[in-house]
Amino acid sequence: MIIAVDGPAASGKGTIARALARHYGLPHLDTGLLYRAVGLAVLEAGGDPASASDALEAAHHLSSALDDPGLKSEAAGKAASLVSVHPDVRAALLDRQKRFADQQGGAVLDGRDIGTVIAPHADAKLFVTASPEVRARRRCDELLGMGLDVHLEAVLHDIRSRDERDSARSAAPLRMADDAALLDTSDLTIEQAVAAAIALAENRPFTAAND
Ligand code: C5P
Repeated sequence: MIIAVDGPAASGKGTIARALARHYGLPHLDTGLLYRAVGLAVLEAGGDPASASDALEAAHHLSSALDDPGLKSEAAGKAASLVSVHPDVRAALLDRQKRFADQQGGAVLDGRDIGTVIAPHADAKLFVTASPEVRARRRCDELLGMGLDVHLEAVLHDIRSRDERDSARSAAPLRMADDAALLDTSDLTIEQAVAAAIALAENRPFTAAND
């Protein structure tokens, strides 16, 4: 079984994808980490993530480890959204993602273009979203929890510009696949969102009220 989970930043798609992977006993790939790794490598090399050649150079020399805690930083997230605009960078990361999706037994992948580009043949496709305000609040709480000094307005501004860049780019923009199920997590707890995701993956109805 291949499960594709797409959606904008801080929508809850990562948490949901990990929970689905646990539920079905499937391997999971957070594809955002690949773009973050490219973005971070460009920054560390003193390059410019907006430069296609700097980004492609980093994509070609990407290490396979995706466990660097630095990948979770806001700087890596912003650099990721800049490098992910370049079609050649996306092409360089395509094979690794497709092989992960098509491994024997299936897999869960989350990102922006899983249901549309990486695994259009996925057995279940979810598009997870939430209002920008709710996503900013969640991201803000997460960053405050990490001891960082952040302001809601600044985080909301960042989320909006990331949405805009991810949706407006011509190469594999953030878009809900025609055959994906929409899951709005704005008013759901994590437990409710996960239960809804499992129900949708199994093509069952879900209402938070009878959870
Ligand atoms: O999901 P995450 O916030 O970690 O992704 C970081 C950035 O990587 C996104 O803003 C997006 O620009 C890019 N990305 C992408 N395609 C994916 C996953 C992430 O373009 N499949």
